[in-house]
Amino acid sequence: MSELRTAADYGRVAVLMGGDSAEREVSLKSGGAVLAALSRAGVDAHGIDFRAGMLASLAGFDRVFIVLHGRGGEDGTLQGALELMGLPYTGSGVLASALAMDKWRTKLVWSALGLPIPAFEMIDADSDFAAVEARLGLPLFVKPANEGSSVGVTKVKAPGELAAARAAAARHDRLVIAEQFLGGGEYTVTVLGEQVLPAIRIVPAGEYYDYEAKYLRDDTRYLCPCGLDVAAEAEMRELARGGFDALGCRGWGRVDFLLDTAGAPHLLEANSVPGMTDHSLVPMAAKAAGLDFDSLCLRILDSSFGAGEGA
Ligand SMILES: Nc1ncnc2c1ncn2[C@@H]1O[C@H](COP(=O)(O)OP(=O)(O)O)[C@@H](O)[C@H]1O
Ligand SMILES: [Mg+2]
Repeated sequence: MSELRTAADYGRVAVLMGGDSAEREVSLKSGGAVLAALSRAGVDAHGIDFRAGMLASLAGFDRVFIVLHGRGGEDGTLQGALELMGLPYTGSGVLASALAMDKWRTKLVWSALGLPIPAFEMIDADSDFAAVEARLGLPLFVKPANEGSSVGVTKVKAPGELAAARAAAARHDRLVIAEQFLGGGEYTVTVLGEQVLPAIRIVPAGEYYDYEAKYLRDDTRYLCPCGLDVAAEAEMRELARGGFDALGCRGWGRVDFLLDTAGAPHLLEANSVPGMTDHSLVPMAAKAAGLDFDSLCLRILDSSFGAGEGA
């Protein structure tokens, strides 16, 4: 239990999971784990497989724990509906949720503040693909601006492959990003309220952290402690705080990083509703900070108090 609250103070809690996005299955797993944790702590928590058009199912609840990933749950639309209903909810508000979901506008905000990001260009069917390949170098990454779970992402390795990669990404979103490849390692940092948790290094067995590596393979390695020296990890955690705050995020979330080959950190993206299965990264970082899964869930639920302080 968090220091100041008893289970009864949370009232009747709806744990929203599932949904209609590409990340439905992951969300069901995360939601099940969160629901079990809150129930163990004595909270009057109820799971809802939350599809479009189900707002009326929230009648009679006092607060909402959002464990929906992707569109319709993580992107600000649900947050706006809950604001209008006067129902407190966990995590980021309308603007921050929408911004974090949009990789392009996230980059615009971060770069305007001088935060380090990989070089990138927005591309469309009329782009001069050879020129983009020349400017960003090969390999390069192509991805839809609004997706998750590595859906629609391609690593372009050979000249001439960019056009097909763009078309694949464009099946998921009108906006497509071409991005400089950074090959110095992948890391993620969890922000939990005022606290920034230890960084985790992600070492996929394959070429990059694709859908299979995230959810299907069991040979992805997660290192925590992450292996960076103290100063480098401190710098990364400070950048995570800066990137999170710049988007107006609140409560909890994850900021992902890539290092260049010289070891300099670059912000990749922010997740305002990260995975919460017992194999997920946020619980792993919490554990390293001495916070078990049940306490973590209560801390996140605590973020539904005092909403309206962020964006
Ligand atoms: N610029 C890049 N350089 C190196 N690897 C990248 C780059 N962009 C993406 N990746 C790899 O692709 C994965 C998915 O890309 P990401 O931008 O995080 O999209 P998603 O929202 O689908 O997770 C990353 O976790 C990383 O392994
Ligand atoms: Mg990612």
